[in-house]
Amino acid sequence: MNEYLPGLEGVPATNSNISFLDGQTGILTYRGYRIEDLAAQSSFEEAALLLLDGRLPTVEELHEFDDQLRRNRRVKFKVREIMKHLPATGHPMEMLQTAMASLGMFYPSDEHLTVGDRSQGLDYVHNVSVKILARMATLVAMWEHIRSGYDPIPPRQDLTYAENFLYMFNGQEPDPCLARIMDACLIMHAEHTINASTFAALVAGSTLASPYLVIAAAIGTLAGPLHGGANQKVVEMLQEIGRPENVRGWLDKKLADKEKIWGMGHREYKVKDPRAIMMQKLMERLVEYRGGRISPMFETALALEEACDERLGPKGVYANVDFYSGILYTEMGIPADQFTSVFAVARCAGWLAHWREQLKDNRIFRPTQVYTGEDVQDYVPIEQR
Ligand code: COA
Repeated sequence: MNEYLPGLEGVPATNSNISFLDGQTGILTYRGYRIEDLAAQSSFEEAALLLLDGRLPTVEELHEFDDQLRRNRRVKFKVREIMKHLPATGHPMEMLQTAMASLGMFYPSDEHLTVGDRSQGLDYVHNVSVKILARMATLVAMWEHIRSGYDPIPPRQDLTYAENFLYMFNGQEPDPCLARIMDACLIMHAEHTINASTFAALVAGSTLASPYLVIAAAIGTLAGPLHGGANQKVVEMLQEIGRPENVRGWLDKKLADKEKIWGMGHREYKVKDPRAIMMQKLMERLVEYRGGRISPMFETALALEEACDERLGPKGVYANVDFYSGILYTEMGIPADQFTSVFAVARCAGWLAHWREQLKDNRIFRPTQVYTGEDVQDYVPIEQR
């Protein structure tokens, strides 16, 4: 095939049985289970194990996995020291990539990637997946305190993944409603077929790089505003708009200037992203839980979505997962520049599942190109140019 398709649109990069989406009807499944059912009835721990192992776990299996995650939340103090030396003004995704890559240096000797040897290989892959997944939330929450000049709050083993994340982040006993919403958000962000960051993980994984570097590559790729970074942009955009009555004038100007509306549009979905539908419902649940108190940001978002449906809907551009997630995170006390890190914590489950799938039938990625440069020509010494 010699045709170049920009953005590799429509080009299959792998065979995968991890997740499925139908962008015309707005269906998303993990291992065949509807995202709506998982978000409502499952937990992040169970969804992560489902993604990794390929089937819903038994009570014992889930208990064991949950226990492993709880026991692996702490990071070595040297990692904390590395983080303390990073500039507080740096982006949290830059910190996360640095910290993740450095984690690999602390676990180099006793573990080996043994592709081909199935039993040993699978043990290694499972154990390292637990180590990475458990520590992702720790790193993100630690940074919130370290960058403000405080010591991080140590993780607790008596809390669920979502509860502990919120506890470490805010330093307060997690509110049960907010913890349940965080759990649902983590489930909804955990996996999404072959997106840019998952593709980066596959490419890095195909070279048999260490899993810490595989995840670091994925973190770097998620950071951009066209991918995971959009949730931060959405909240900044809503703050710029200010009030619902400003929406239409603001939108007219942006579209006339051919600017992007953050949190709108998706390469795959031509209808509203099913996760945006669920995020909106979670926000409504939170409003109800708080006795009807609705944030001005949510009101502005609702007005903006309505206006965008009229203007961008005909192009198949509708709200995506990032449109409402940042508003929810704001309600949880998470600052805007940490939204993408929360996304990364969740998506780490999907990255690890794809890394594992890639290793089972690995071939190094080595695509080709359509060469558009010069024909072979003679070198001209510099004094003759
Ligand atoms: N705001 C305004 N117009 C948009 C838009 C947006 N967010 N997303 C797409 N469009 C328009 C494009 O301008 C284009 O219009 P045209 O045909 O008149 O030129 C048309 O819709 C198709 O968009 P295109 O850029 O070709 O889609 P894509 O598949 O290459 O890009 C995204 C998909 C996600 C990169 C794109 O929709 C985007 O940048 N969205 C905002 C960032 C975002 O929220 N990312 C998170 C994704 S989960």
